[in-house]
Amino acid sequence: MLKDLILEFKKKFGEFEDIGTYFSPGRVNLIGEHTDYNGGFVFPCALDFGTYAVVRKREDKIFRMYSKNFENLGIIEFSLNDLVYKKEDNWANYPKGVIKTFLDHNLAIKTGFDVLFFGNIPNGAGLSSSASIEVLVAVILKSLFDLDIDMVEMVKYCQLAENKFIGVNSGIMDQFAVGMGKKDRAILLDCNSLNYEYVPVVLNNMSIVIANTNKKRGLADSKYNERRASCEAAVEELNKNGVKIKYLGELTVEEFGKVKHFIKDEEQLKRARHAVRENERTKEAVSVLKAGNIEKFGKLMNESHISLRDDYEVTGIELDSLVEAAWDEEGTIGSRMTGAGFGGCTVSIVKNENIESFIKNVGEKYKVKTGLSASFYVANIGNGAKELKSDIN
Ligand code: GLA
Repeated sequence: MLKDLILEFKKKFGEFEDIGTYFSPGRVNLIGEHTDYNGGFVFPCALDFGTYAVVRKREDKIFRMYSKNFENLGIIEFSLNDLVYKKEDNWANYPKGVIKTFLDHNLAIKTGFDVLFFGNIPNGAGLSSSASIEVLVAVILKSLFDLDIDMVEMVKYCQLAENKFIGVNSGIMDQFAVGMGKKDRAILLDCNSLNYEYVPVVLNNMSIVIANTNKKRGLADSKYNERRASCEAAVEELNKNGVKIKYLGELTVEEFGKVKHFIKDEEQLKRARHAVRENERTKEAVSVLKAGNIEKFGKLMNESHISLRDDYEVTGIELDSLVEAAWDEEGTIGSRMTGAGFGGCTVSIVKNENIESFIKNVGEKYKVKTGLSASFYVANIGNGAKELKSDIN
């Protein structure tokens, strides 16, 4: 595939010798949803599919970007001197935001580059196609301009680009998983301290199955920002009443139980309850996984979904139908929505011998309920973003 992408790059941009190739994965979160911006734990892993880039550094200050996923938009061009958000630049605002954020932090990016992207993550499906391209661009910048910056710092700048340039108040989970992922391991990340630990995901005769609702997400970004604002309002309410915390993730379920009456707004209370419980659930899930108790891990995934459905209210008919159908299947260890919600994907752990019937039955039930066709992927856990060896030129 890489060979074809290089050929295509040359057709679009010209026959150059000094071409580099890069890859950045998508991610799936196993548990710990809507906890990252609440200073809690998440447990995501990088996937073995993602976004590829073929790149050539230019002598001038022009960036020319082409995505095979958006062929109809053609080559999008902008200058190092004009790094502002433009609606018409569409997906290219993600790379642009990262370049701008790097420059704002005094990283010496002196020229532009030509790039062809191709992603095999479904776009807008909650598998972090946007974090994937952001971190990919960070890795390209580091390599082209010999920048003295480590991956965690790059991850932080990519989050900043998403927050400030794109305007989505996301936490750090996606960029972290995409940048720091390791094959066959999930990352237990404390989003408050950024301490992290790689945990082997040993599933033996089971696999991770991702199901895409194929629902267009529409207003998801504004609803996401609303959820975050509700949690922040709950923290403020607690602080006004003498509970000194910065994030909900600092409270155990027990501590929360003692102070929750200070939160008068019913909606804020529900959001906060999810954040606190999900955080504790995530820690428990990782400890049972380490002990080899996958059955229990699956049960906690199910509980996570229920909490996201009833308290956080980010699921909706599509995600609920997929998850409920999965729960009914023989061989399902656990199933839940993954990512921001409001559409996007579910993640399930399924016994290998049942995967075929799982896909058939869940797909059929989903179609009857929603009229939509789901897509299924049996996922492997892959490595984080990196430059690929150039000997394929
Ligand atoms: C999106 C955001 C993440 C995280 C999840 C929900 O993927 O980008 O930061 O908040 O939603 O867990």
